[in-house]
Amino acid sequence: MIRSVIRGSGSALPERAVTNAELAEQIDTSDEWIVERTGIRQRYIAGEGETTSTLATAAARNALAMAGIEAADIDLIILATATPDHTFPASATQVQKALGCRGGIAFDVHAVCSGFLYALGTADSMLRTGMAKKALVIGAETFSRILDWDDRTTCVLFGDGAGAIVLEAQDCEEDGPGILATRLHADGEHKELLYVDGGPSTTGTVGKLRMKGREVFRHAVVNLADVLGETLDAVGMEPADIDWVVPHQANARILDATARKLGLPAEKVIVTVDRHANTSAASVPLAFDAGMRDGRIKRGDLVMFEAMGGGFTWGASLARI
Ligand code: UT7
Repeated sequence: MIRSVIRGSGSALPERAVTNAELAEQIDTSDEWIVERTGIRQRYIAGEGETTSTLATAAARNALAMAGIEAADIDLIILATATPDHTFPASATQVQKALGCRGGIAFDVHAVCSGFLYALGTADSMLRTGMAKKALVIGAETFSRILDWDDRTTCVLFGDGAGAIVLEAQDCEEDGPGILATRLHADGEHKELLYVDGGPSTTGTVGKLRMKGREVFRHAVVNLADVLGETLDAVGMEPADIDWVVPHQANARILDATARKLGLPAEKVIVTVDRHANTSAASVPLAFDAGMRDGRIKRGDLVMFEAMGGGFTWGASLARI
């Protein structure tokens, strides 16, 4: 059967890391509050010249190098972002140009923090139906540029960065590698709990992020547990079959609560929220690349990706590496 196989991963972070203590010099917060409530210790903030597409391009180059695949052979680029360089064209086209792989398919997917899952599901469908052979699936964000730096309830939570994977359509055995199942959901009912208060068709401005964190937290734990169960059911597997959970990194307490609901030990969850904070669509591929490069995630492992974000949108994807 044709499956989308993960050939490599890569990541890129802005040069500048900003600690909680540095933030506490500018706004009414403390390292203690941020660590206790979120697990975040620092975040990376894009500087001049660092944009969503430059970070995405750097992450894509690292992923291509790990995969041993030339940029020229990539015929599909899907970039998940809520913070594109421009309203249009899609930042994916600028990544394509920078990589020098013109002529294939390139577009952005917008599902905020679940964007990488949406991009992964879309790329997997396109590869399995033969529309493309080798894909770059990227999550990249510069959320620092849509934060209200006077709002301590949101600005301490987010960071910038990019992560990427290379997928290749391959003929696989039943127990071979590849993406096994993906489940995606959306519910537009709760827009006011997490949104940006501007946009091209409303205010004509970019706007700033607004979030009612406590309510988002409550929805996140329930929705994630549901979609993880649904994805396992799709392939007749149990939580105990999972080697690694690679979750969206919004809050260490959400990661703990989700692992507990699944009955999984915390050691099976890849955590990067302490170093990266919440990088929205970039957080899942950033965490995956961290696990791949430090040797925890190995070929043959069963990995569950999951995320929940603005919309609300949420999803999960199970892959054998
Ligand atoms: O990526 C998309 C999905 N996003 C998420 O999943 C985020 C989910 N939500 C969360 O992670 C948590 O709800 C937060 C980290 C955002 C907030 O944690 P919380 O435990 O729910 O705190 P809270 O919002 O209920 O605020 C508790 C207190 C408040 O003070 P009072 O009203 O109790 O006096 C806040 O004003 O903490 C105060 N507070 C702060 N204090 C110091 C809020 N932000 C800060 C801050 N520093 N940065």
